[in-house]
Amino acid sequence: MQGKRLDKQMNWSKSTDIYESISQQAGQVDGRNFLVLENLRKGYEEGGKYHTVLHDFSIGFRRGEFVAVLGRSGSGKTTLLNLISGIDRADAGEIYLNGTRLTGLDDMQRTLYRRQNIGFIFQFFNLIPTLNVWENITLPLELNGMFDAEGKARARALLEEVGLGNRLEAFPDRISGGEQQRVSIARALVHNPQLVLADEPTGNLDEDTGRAIMDLLDRLTRQAGKNLVLVTHSPEAAAYADRVFTLHDGQLIEKDR
Ligand SMILES: Nc1ncnc2c1ncn2[C@@H]1O[C@H](COP(=O)(O)OP(=O)(O)O)[C@@H](O)[C@H]1O
Ligand SMILES: [Mg+2]
Repeated sequence: MQGKRLDKQMNWSKSTDIYESISQQAGQVDGRNFLVLENLRKGYEEGGKYHTVLHDFSIGFRRGEFVAVLGRSGSGKTTLLNLISGIDRADAGEIYLNGTRLTGLDDMQRTLYRRQNIGFIFQFFNLIPTLNVWENITLPLELNGMFDAEGKARARALLEEVGLGNRLEAFPDRISGGEQQRVSIARALVHNPQLVLADEPTGNLDEDTGRAIMDLLDRLTRQAGKNLVLVTHSPEAAAYADRVFTLHDGQLIEKDR
C-alpha cells in the first residue's frame, strides 16, 4: 500500500534534455539508450588509500538486450550491479535507466525506483528462510502494493513457468539449490520489472542445473522483451547473451564474437 501511495507523490525526473544529449553523445543511433552508463567511476578507500574499481567508461544498452559481463573475482562485477540498481552510489558519472537519471535521485527515491523497476537474482539465492516459496515470490508484490488478484495470478503463472507449481508451501531449506534459484527467478520477475540483474546466478550450481537455469532465465527475460544484465565468471553462461563484455582493470570492454 505504502509503495503505491509514495509512487503517486513522486514525479520521476525525466530530464529529457540531458537524456537526449547523452544518448547522442554516446552515439546511440541504434537505440542504445535504455540503460546508459556515462563516465562511471567507483572506488573504495582502504587503509587510507583509494582503490579504483570502475574507471570512467561509457556504454549504452538497447531495450530488450541481454548483456553479459565476464570478470574475475574482485574485478568489480558486483560493484557494477550495485551502481545500476542504486544500492550504491557512483563516485562520478551518470546512470540513466529508461529515461530516468538514477544518479539524480535521493536514497528514498532510488529505493522505490529499484523496488518497482528492477528484479534481482543472486549466486546464493537470498531467499528468506522463514517464508515459504509462495511468500518469498510474492514479497515484491507486497512491497509494491501489487498483492491483488492480478499480482497473484502473475505469481501463480510464474510458479508454473519455473516448474514449482506444486511446491508453494515448501520452505527454502527443503528444496534443492536449482529449485531455490527458480524461486529466486520468479521473485525477480513477479512485479514485472523491465530490467533484471543477475549476480553469478549459476555460480553455486552444478553444470547441468546451471544450464537449465540459464535456459529459463533467457526465456523469461530476453525472450519476453526484458533486459538482463548478467555478471559471471562463466563463459558458458555469458554465451547466452546478445553482447558480452569483460571487466578488466576497471574498464568494460566489448568482446568481438
Ligand atoms: N564495501 C567495500 N569496501 C571496500 N572495498 C570493497 C567494497 N566492496 C568491494 N570492494 C572491493 O572492490 C573490488 C571489487 O569487488 P566486487 O565488485 O565485489 O568484485 P566481484 O563481484 O567482481 O568479485 C574488490 O577488490 C573488493 O575487495
Ligand atoms: Mg561479486
